[in-house]
Amino acid sequence: MKKKLVILTGAGISAESGLKTFRDSDGLWENYRLEDVATPMAWQRDPALVLEFYNQRRKDVLNVQPNAAHIALAELDNYFDVTIITQNIDDLHERAGSKHILHLHGEILKSRSSLDAELLYDCRTDISIRDRCSRGSQLRPHVVWFHEAVPMLEPAASIASEAEFFLVVGTSLQVYPAAGLIHYAPYGAKKFLVDPNIPIISELKNWKMIEAKATIGVPSLVHDLKVMSAH
Ligand code: APR
Repeated sequence: MKKKLVILTGAGISAESGLKTFRDSDGLWENYRLEDVATPMAWQRDPALVLEFYNQRRKDVLNVQPNAAHIALAELDNYFDVTIITQNIDDLHERAGSKHILHLHGEILKSRSSLDAELLYDCRTDISIRDRCSRGSQLRPHVVWFHEAVPMLEPAASIASEAEFFLVVGTSLQVYPAAGLIHYAPYGAKKFLVDPNIPIISELKNWKMIEAKATIGVPSLVHDLKVMSAH
């Protein structure tokens, strides 16, 4: 029986693929006010600006490749019962070959009806103001905005609470409820965090901190985890 490994990832794991993070210097929230592009109020006020913001991010995602960190994590499917809980809306974990991925904040390569959140469509091109769902309402990015519910939170919390190994890669742990998932990890789980700027979170006492970029820290940790999986 493979041991359960839960991995929480954030924008930092995709940084070396060429995708901007949010809160690093020159991050997305330095160039856009999140209130203007990532809230339901923004959508009501200026849907064209919101669509433009996500159309550009979709183009960026389609122009980059998974990096060594995504690829190393995908290898762990052979050694552990792995679930990746990602805050990222890119598909780099999928393209790297990971099998069990839960997108807490949605997926940029899907669009959805503004009326019915269950009405999803594959989306690899721009969404424009004229694009409508089958029920006639404006299409929007399938992304969770600030102040919106996080539908996958409950399954994510349940998965985190069963972790025997818990790994955090490339997230500032500043956005809830996602950041709160680290507290669901059982006390006895082996916990690791990879980030070049280790977040200063007091609760992170019995964690092994790896102060490194993802493409350096993750492959090295994956090597060690493969050894641990055998014990
Ligand atoms: N390798 C690993 N980590 C990195 C790298 C790298 N090369 N470069 C930056 N990081 C780390 C930063 O040190 C930081 O801890 O990635 C993290 C990025 O933090 P944020 O920009 O806040 O991204 P994230 O934590 O994913 O944001 C969470 O906020 O705006 C919302 O919905 C959005 O999902 C996003 C959420």
